[in-house]
Amino acid sequence: MDQNAMKQQVAERAAEYIEAYLEPDMIVGVGTGSTANLFIDCLAAHKHRFDGALASSEETRRRLEEHKIPVYDLNTVAKLPFYIDGADEVNPYLHLIKGGGGALTREKIIASVADTFICIVDESKCVDLLGHFPLPIEVIPMARSSVARALVELGGRPVYREGFVTDNGNIILDVHDLEILEPRLLESKINDLVGVVTCGLFAHRGADVLLVATPDGVQEVDASS
Ligand code: 5RP
Repeated sequence: MDQNAMKQQVAERAAEYIEAYLEPDMIVGVGTGSTANLFIDCLAAHKHRFDGALASSEETRRRLEEHKIPVYDLNTVAKLPFYIDGADEVNPYLHLIKGGGGALTREKIIASVADTFICIVDESKCVDLLGHFPLPIEVIPMARSSVARALVELGGRPVYREGFVTDNGNIILDVHDLEILEPRLLESKINDLVGVVTCGLFAHRGADVLLVATPDGVQEVDASS
């Protein structure tokens, strides 16, 4: 089974997972990326059973709107039972690296307000140690060089993502060569750098449920287990 087929399988499983909980007034949080896109397509089959969605990027907003799923502003939403999103890496503690698509800040905001964050990946994303995938950092443009120097001090090799502007008007530095032994500590240290909007480590608020597609089917891992 190829990677796309596994992404499709896990997207379908996530839609099945939340289906039983859908209510007419419910808002569903939706992530960004190819796996999240497949999830949106599955979710659309149930669109008359919930109120609408929160989008973690303009790309996701467009896809939801193509399916005629109403998209809400977070400032008007008081309760978010579920957030469903992919990841670039996930460790056994359900800490994540996210932001390959550059949507990490909005993703982190939505994850922070969700009761349950369901992360959907294929097995290639599962690692013991985070950091092989370059860690994306969203940075205010004028702080690009100063933040890059500070990231070198932290042991990384930041690379400017050429020609990319986030939905918030900022730039991305992708940090290579990190062995992330203490994800929470590194997340705090990077987020403390002046000029950083946020980093793509999701350790303080990792996933609650991980659905992993494998050639033998989808496995479920709960953070509490
Ligand atoms: C976007 C993300 C995505 O979840 C991550 O890049 C995984 O993408 P894909 O599902 O296409 O492999 O964090 O900012």
